[in-house]
Amino acid sequence: MTRPDGRPALVTGATGLVGGAIALELLRRTEADVYCLARDTSREPAARRVPRLLTRAAADYGMDDVLDEIPARVRVLSGDITEPGCGVPDALLPAEIGEVWHAAASLKYRDRDRAEIELHNVTGTRHVAGLALRLGARALDLVSTAYVVGERTGLITEEPVTADRPANNVYEDSKRAAEALVSELPVDTVRILRPGIVIGHSETLAAPTTFGLYSFVDELTAFRTKVEAKLGNYLDHYAIGILGDPATRGNLVPVDTVATAAVRLSLVGAPGGIYHLTNTEASRLGEALAALTGALGIRSPRWVSDRAELNSIDAALSERLEFQAAYMLQDKVFDASRTRRHCGDGLLTVPLSPERIGEYITRYLKDGAAEQVVAARKAAPGV
Ligand SMILES: NC(=O)c1ccc[n+]([C@@H]2O[C@H](COP(=O)([O-])OP(=O)(O)OC[C@H]3O[C@@H](n4cnc5c(N)ncnc54)[C@H](OP(=O)(O)O)[C@@H]3O)[C@@H](O)[C@H]2O)c1
Repeated sequence: MTRPDGRPALVTGATGLVGGAIALELLRRTEADVYCLARDTSREPAARRVPRLLTRAAADYGMDDVLDEIPARVRVLSGDITEPGCGVPDALLPAEIGEVWHAAASLKYRDRDRAEIELHNVTGTRHVAGLALRLGARALDLVSTAYVVGERTGLITEEPVTADRPANNVYEDSKRAAEALVSELPVDTVRILRPGIVIGHSETLAAPTTFGLYSFVDELTAFRTKVEAKLGNYLDHYAIGILGDPATRGNLVPVDTVATAAVRLSLVGAPGGIYHLTNTEASRLGEALAALTGALGIRSPRWVSDRAELNSIDAALSERLEFQAAYMLQDKVFDASRTRRHCGDGLLTVPLSPERIGEYITRYLKDGAAEQVVAARKAAPGV
């Protein structure tokens, strides 16, 4: 059992959605310094970028109580997880670290990007693990994904992945390898944290990301623009065909729920192992997509079970949704008993009505979140 011991924490991925929320939660719930390892960009050094993005996230999430903590307790290490030692010169390393939170990753998924994905998610995890050992960390928390189980359907327990079901894509493959790698580490406590599909903040709805639910929004928006250019108001009259089962569950979970659960596991000294950071109230795909199309002002989709039922316009959308395709057919129910045992029952129960999902999407569209995230990240190497 390892609880925070007063020594500083080290967070990777703090310029991103999940790592940023974890860093803010650590500032709120602990008293030690929080080291954030992040990349410089061609426009902005990590030393400026990290506090800027954390300050914006804190403001977006209504976490005014941590705003003063950012300049006071955040220490930035300029580095890159793909480099040996994460590219941080020895002289700049802190003397010691109590707990390492590894959230940095590549969220690409295509075969053609395999080398880059493996470099970030497998080799990068090895480098972060090496740093954790070197700095004497007693706990390492790897942010993985609940979808690491690949093609498996039905009840998914908090257990290591078995090889009998293949991964859906290279991203999932790389997450499997990262989980296996950290499981072997000689660190007192290794927790593998598996979030569902992370969405914006549960109260403010803000979401500095283009991944998951929001990639659906972006793909459908781009598709609508193209169809309108070619066929005018076609989508006002015809429901677009989508290959999938509307009863399939998609595990949408707010980013603050994920960060609160992650940090709470550490605070209560939860033992090493696998923890689902998932919503016990999973959403149905049919409801989520109806909310999405509603927010975009187009008709609810027409669900089909056979590709032959798609016309050429439907098929063009399917091509865009190649990442999401598998998840629209594989119904998964995530058992989060271990997490609930340590975090309590209420935390992971976040009912999301179709109206509420629509509000998340409307907020994302209103913020122009995709443009903002892309602009903030544009100059990052490898992104
Ligand atoms: N979003 C979801 O729905 C979801 C669901 C389940 C699991 N997860 C997992 O949660 C973790 C974080 O995902 P996210 O949604 O927060 O993604 P994100 O917003 O894209 O953040 C990724 C973070 O990783 C950093 N990073 C990438 N490559 C790096 C490198 N070479 N060196 C240092 N930092 C690097 C990025 O830094 P830059 O700012 O420099 O790019 C960014 O801070 C990932 O492990 C992901 O697999 C996410």
